[in-house]
Amino acid sequence: MKKPDLSVQIGSLKFRNPVLLASGTVGYGNEMSEFIDLNSIGGIVTKSLSLKPRKGNQPQRIVETPSGMLNAIGLQNIGVEEFIKEKIPFLKKFDVPLICNIAASTYEEYVECTGILTKEDTIKAFEINVSCPNVREGGLQFGNDVKAVGKITAGVKSVTDKPVIIKLSPNVSYISEFAKVVKDEGGDAVSAINTLVGTSFNIFTKKPKLFNVNGGLSGPAIKPIALAKVLEIKRSVDIPVIGIGGIMDWKDVIEFMIAGSTAIQLGTVNFIDPAAAGKIIKGIEDYCIKYGVEKISELTGSYIV
Ligand SMILES: Cc1cc2nc3c(=O)[nH]c(=O)nc-3n(C[C@H](O)[C@H](O)[C@H](O)COP(=O)(O)O)c2cc1C
Repeated sequence: MKKPDLSVQIGSLKFRNPVLLASGTVGYGNEMSEFIDLNSIGGIVTKSLSLKPRKGNQPQRIVETPSGMLNAIGLQNIGVEEFIKEKIPFLKKFDVPLICNIAASTYEEYVECTGILTKEDTIKAFEINVSCPNVREGGLQFGNDVKAVGKITAGVKSVTDKPVIIKLSPNVSYISEFAKVVKDEGGDAVSAINTLVGTSFNIFTKKPKLFNVNGGLSGPAIKPIALAKVLEIKRSVDIPVIGIGGIMDWKDVIEFMIAGSTAIQLGTVNFIDPAAAGKIIKGIEDYCIKYGVEKISELTGSYIV
């Protein structure tokens, strides 16, 4: 059989394969270039960027949990200006779509950040984080409010021609209501899911393990929840979904695509094996050859129930 076509499309943007690296788990991509050939992956999503640099939360910011981890980084980042000056020149050297993830405390900040970054040719799309559980302002306060998500989608779309992906929170009753408003306001795709709110205590000191008390749960523990959210969106809204949540190997990627994902993102697995993306791409290619899948995009939403 000839090589399968692993390419997938979101809005006007074509990816060579569906394997993208998730926000917050690969910095701005530069450190990952030591472990994987960035020109071989589907795309890179940057750590959330805000207008001004943010220090994030005080430590402890990470706790290991059964089959997962809690993080409360608090959107530490270098800010839009330094990102353009210090990181874009390095990223320019690679032929890999760069997706800028944006986090903000106000509607105006989302729009302003996107307006500044859209002028950079290296940036091919935006992922708007309305779902960070680890900050007081600008996280779930937006992600839990359908109207706010709609307004942010429309506002960001008004300042860029590049695809806009809205990253949704699983900490809501019906995620599909949020996907619907994104579609209605012109968003090109949604990514699902961000982390789930969780916490953990030290039984001897009786204190929370995280300085922020709550954190976001990620890793294999959340995979079934993420799959259910992808399926819920796919069943009720006609919008591309980027599946995220506990993907550890190529089998998980295939499962997410069957459930309705057009593409996927790798998060926590990058901390366990920074070279995972390469192995996963090889695994999905072998699966396609073995099972006669000529175009991987045919798998999207191919579940039989
Ligand atoms: C340490 C850490 C930092 C993260 N930072 C961000 C972030 O800045 N912006 C964002 O949209 N998501 C962030 N996420 C969420 C991931 O992109 C992803 O949605 C989540 O971890 C679920 O995927 P996983 O189970 O494969 O890790 C972060 C996750 C982790 C573990």
